[in-house]
Amino acid sequence: MPLVCLTDFQAYAQEHLSKSTWDFIEGGADECFTRDDNMAAFKKIRLRPRYLRDVQEVDTRTTVQGEEITAPIGIAPTGFHCLVWPDGEMSTARAAQAAGVCYVTSTYASCPLEDIAATAPRGLKWFQLYMQPDRQLNKQLVQRAESLGFRALVITVDAPKIGNRRRDFRNQLNLKMNLLLKDLRSPKERNSMPYFQMSPIDSSFCWNDLSWLQSISRLPIILKGILTKEDAELAVKHNVHGIIVSNHGGRQLDDVPASIDALTEVVAAVKGKMEVYLDGGIRTGNDVLKALALGAKCVFLGRPVLWGLAYKGEHGVEEVLNLIKNEFHTSMTLTGCRSVAEINQDLVQFSRL
Ligand code: FNR
Repeated sequence: MPLVCLTDFQAYAQEHLSKSTWDFIEGGADECFTRDDNMAAFKKIRLRPRYLRDVQEVDTRTTVQGEEITAPIGIAPTGFHCLVWPDGEMSTARAAQAAGVCYVTSTYASCPLEDIAATAPRGLKWFQLYMQPDRQLNKQLVQRAESLGFRALVITVDAPKIGNRRRDFRNQLNLKMNLLLKDLRSPKERNSMPYFQMSPIDSSFCWNDLSWLQSISRLPIILKGILTKEDAELAVKHNVHGIIVSNHGGRQLDDVPASIDALTEVVAAVKGKMEVYLDGGIRTGNDVLKALALGAKCVFLGRPVLWGLAYKGEHGVEEVLNLIKNEFHTSMTLTGCRSVAEINQDLVQFSRL
């Protein structure tokens, strides 16, 4: 049977991945309330279609940080792709390049950045950084990413400590994952160390440290994980170039708002001074349309990309991306939007349910 929606890929992945890998991907923090709310919150928003417009030509293209992409849909950073498919992030990067979308590569990639850059040299790639306690290591990572052609730095702010992922605790997953990390080791160590302790994320990193990052790199800085107007205003004050409204797919702090529910507050606070993106719970083309209507410039997919990778590697990720791009094209056509610029908040209303 063909896979016709993103949740079909989810079912396939659940059936074919080991229990511990499946649990790692699907799991949320604590009771998984926010993970599930990310999806449920989209269902409280209804669409207000406009008809009798000429929709023979519908153009899904847009830009992020000045670079053109084929649709406002990208790949969120997720670690350890080699758990899911042998050449992991290299397959993901090639699929993103073929689909013409932005791929945000994680600090916890299981392939070296050099290999990822070499396998998809024309694809738009951003590098996600978990600040490491060792400043020198951060500097090396940032400068390596910059010299390899990554076009922006995504600093994840919602993980000064890893959330309580009960499923991973039960499966005692850590050792296996540590072995997959490559970019946090020196080149000499990369192939020789039998055991590597994953270094903790720097929990002392704060607003004033952003100027240090700005001093070592010319790349635009995007903060991932902002959920409040207060932090959005601070992001403006500190001259960052973008925000990804995100709750880490509900994997960090449980009981925070669904990403789509936090979006409006952040968009209002930045007053158009930077691009705002969203990830969390995007599963259909209509979800993409709703996020754009509420002010997101682009959305990013986390788990669905891993489901595609589990299905057929590079080609599975491409199928996932093309499927949601096609759904988004349909959503635009059926609501009367001929270009991404025509998507606005008049297209949505909040249901009373
Ligand atoms: C993540 N996420 C994540 N975020 C980040 O900044 N760096 C990372 O290395 C990871 N790793 C990671 C692994 C896995 C298995 C998942 C599911 C998620 C969070 C990710 O970027 C994104 O915020 C969410 O996945 C978005 O929600 P959906 O699309 O999965 O609902």
